[in-house]
Amino acid sequence: MDNFTFYSPTLFAFGDGQAQTTGSLVRRFGGSKVLLVYGGGSVKRNGAYDAVTASLKEAGIPFQELSGIQANPRSGKVYEGIETVRKEGLDFLVALGGGSVIDTAKAIGMGAEYDGDFWDFFSGKTKIERSLPVGVILTIAAAGSEGSDSCVITHENGNLKWGIPKSDAVRPKFSVLDPRYTCSLPPYQTACGAVDMMAHICERYFSNTPDVALTDRLCEALLKTVVDAAPKAIADTNDYAARADLMWAGMLAHNNSCGVGRAQDWASHQMEHELSAFYDCAHGAGLAVVMPAWMEYVYTHDVMRFARFAVEVFGCEMDYAEPKNTALLGIRRLREFFRALGMPTTLKEIEGAKSEDIPKMVEHRREKPNGFPFGSFVKIGPEEMAEILRGTDL
Ligand code: NZQ
Ligand code: ZN
Repeated sequence: MDNFTFYSPTLFAFGDGQAQTTGSLVRRFGGSKVLLVYGGGSVKRNGAYDAVTASLKEAGIPFQELSGIQANPRSGKVYEGIETVRKEGLDFLVALGGGSVIDTAKAIGMGAEYDGDFWDFFSGKTKIERSLPVGVILTIAAAGSEGSDSCVITHENGNLKWGIPKSDAVRPKFSVLDPRYTCSLPPYQTACGAVDMMAHICERYFSNTPDVALTDRLCEALLKTVVDAAPKAIADTNDYAARADLMWAGMLAHNNSCGVGRAQDWASHQMEHELSAFYDCAHGAGLAVVMPAWMEYVYTHDVMRFARFAVEVFGCEMDYAEPKNTALLGIRRLREFFRALGMPTTLKEIEGAKSEDIPKMVEHRREKPNGFPFGSFVKIGPEEMAEILRGTDL
């Protein structure tokens, strides 16, 4: 196990009815005037908006609103939010929604405290020193932004979907996790969330670092829990136990509890960000296409690790004579699992996607600072990226 520091100072208020505590949590973390950020309207239909605004009013906290945040959030809303925060003298951001809303709030928080363009943090021009505090009321178990040190925004100028270098300064001060709010998710979004959290675990699990037995087992427990809970939540959207497991798994998958002390990969995420930049697909859907193809490309690098994944996560029988068979079976089971959840698993199932775009996606990636190589389990250069993406064209 490698040396590490782990600093994750987010308060989690978990369970039915916890949104009522929003106002007091804002006060506790020093907020007095709030920008309430949310998306396209799901929070008004499922009661989350009413509960949060009632709590802010009860606590006597005035708030302005920034709504209409779209999935794969764009820079335009970040600039708009920064302007409102400055004009109105707001001092706290409340993100009500999923990863797209939370990341928009995080980007507004860091941008409002900086004299230059907020995009400087994404282009690597400057480092994040501080941010306005962000609180979260989560409505979809997926991206893990409610506990994470990252933030992903698409800049409209160049359609660049980039993340910041990891920074503890952007971790939310608090996150309210009420599984009830996720019961209104359509099956497709529930499935996208399950894929994303599995990807967050796999990006850490497939590591070259030896002697990380505890985090290996934590990863496997999380993966098995998602494999068990996601179909239940899709079959019965009001299955509270399944919704609760998914919600906490999504947080644990990405606040780095399972990633400490080991090299992490992130190659599938890097390639997926090109897919969602090109086709505006849901992040989880893009990952369902890319991740099995990445696995097929790299599994020979460590056949035993992939065989263990197959045995521990999908209960496959170990073929001791030919562990390669077990490794490949595990990848096949993963793809079948995604398919059973209703996810696309080939490039052509993503609306608008075509294999002729693969070289363009590789070129687009070059615009990113330190664009190539990426990944650490196996280093991925332009040729390898193109080959993996061709592997999605089944
Ligand atoms: O806009 P509304 O109407 O709210 O609809 C949303 C949106 O269309 C809907 N939704 C959310 N909660 C709902 C609901 N619909 C019904 N009932 C509910 N309770 O779901 C749709 C997707 O929302 P979004 O916030 O985009 O989903 P997600 O949480 O998957 O976030 C995806 C974004 O996060 C980034 C992704 O790249 C993508 O941009 N990521 C952020 C990370 C981070 N900051 O740590 C890590 C991830 O790897 C990821 O890259
Ligand atoms: Zn992700």
